[in-house]
Amino acid sequence: MGQAATVGDAATPRERVSSAPSSDMAISVRGLTKRFGTFTAVDAIDFDVRRGEVFGFLGPNGAGKTTAIRMLTGTIAPTAGSALVLGDDVIAKPEKVKRRIGYMSQKFALFEDMTVDENLRFYAGVYDVSGAEFAARRRYILRMADLEGREDELTANLSVGWKQRLALGAATIHEPELLFLDEPTSGVDPVARRHFWDLLYDLADDGVTLFVTTHYMDEANHCHRLGFMYAGRLIAQGSPTEVRAAYAPDGATAGTLPSIEDVFVHLVTAHRDRQEDGA
Ligand SMILES: Nc1ncnc2c1ncn2[C@@H]1O[C@H](COP(=O)(O)OP(=O)(O)OP(=O)(O)O)[C@@H](O)[C@H]1O
Ligand SMILES: [Mg+2]
Repeated sequence: MGQAATVGDAATPRERVSSAPSSDMAISVRGLTKRFGTFTAVDAIDFDVRRGEVFGFLGPNGAGKTTAIRMLTGTIAPTAGSALVLGDDVIAKPEKVKRRIGYMSQKFALFEDMTVDENLRFYAGVYDVSGAEFAARRRYILRMADLEGREDELTANLSVGWKQRLALGAATIHEPELLFLDEPTSGVDPVARRHFWDLLYDLADDGVTLFVTTHYMDEANHCHRLGFMYAGRLIAQGSPTEVRAAYAPDGATAGTLPSIEDVFVHLVTAHRDRQEDGA
């Protein structure tokens, strides 16, 4: 694919980040690393997410996306590096950060054996949302998730699209300033995915910063900026148009840029080939 066939060359969109993390950013990460024994799952990544931004975190299975999110949400401690989340050091003060963020995790978001209402009450308890504030949030979330009248239904009986909307409601019950969403639309049909993204845009319009992982490339196009992970490393970042332009053949015009999916496949295969060559 044109001049960008050599991955890691000057065409690779790597935004220059200052050496010190910035507290003006929603997320500012330097040298963030996680090792499990001798295996490095996240390998010295550097990036910034601006406040109010919708940041898409892409990469193949096992690239290290969830591990990075678990460090940024104060769920696991990094092996090395620094991370400011909403201006606070998440390693030194994970509890302070946790109160101001929401986290819709990849594996667990809801108790299947509890009702819709019980799940909302559980998360309200976790985040100390009570009384009139909870009543208002509950009303808002039930309407947003299209679950009015289904409060007493068992969560296990909801279809995936509804479950994910309820999980979004639960993750935002305390009106966080920054929301981490790890594959929130996995297994959701196209119409429900679009509806889910409308909800995400409503949050973004209200100034919430969104950090979202997805394997759906149409969703990647909805993000303001993207980061591509491969084998624990952040190998490219930039706006969708910037990354598409960086991997375009010579002479490509705005109308003939490769798609994000093309760029994704190119990045992964080029890095895999380099690894196999022992480079
Ligand atoms: N607790 C752990 N102990 C050992 N290895 C782990 C642990 N957690 C994750 N890993 C490994 O770290 C690597 C990165 O995993 P991670 O879940 O972060 O990938 P991912 O990019 O989120 O993938 P997916 O797209 O499949 O969700 C994988 O090889 C995984 O097996
Ligand atoms: Mg994951």
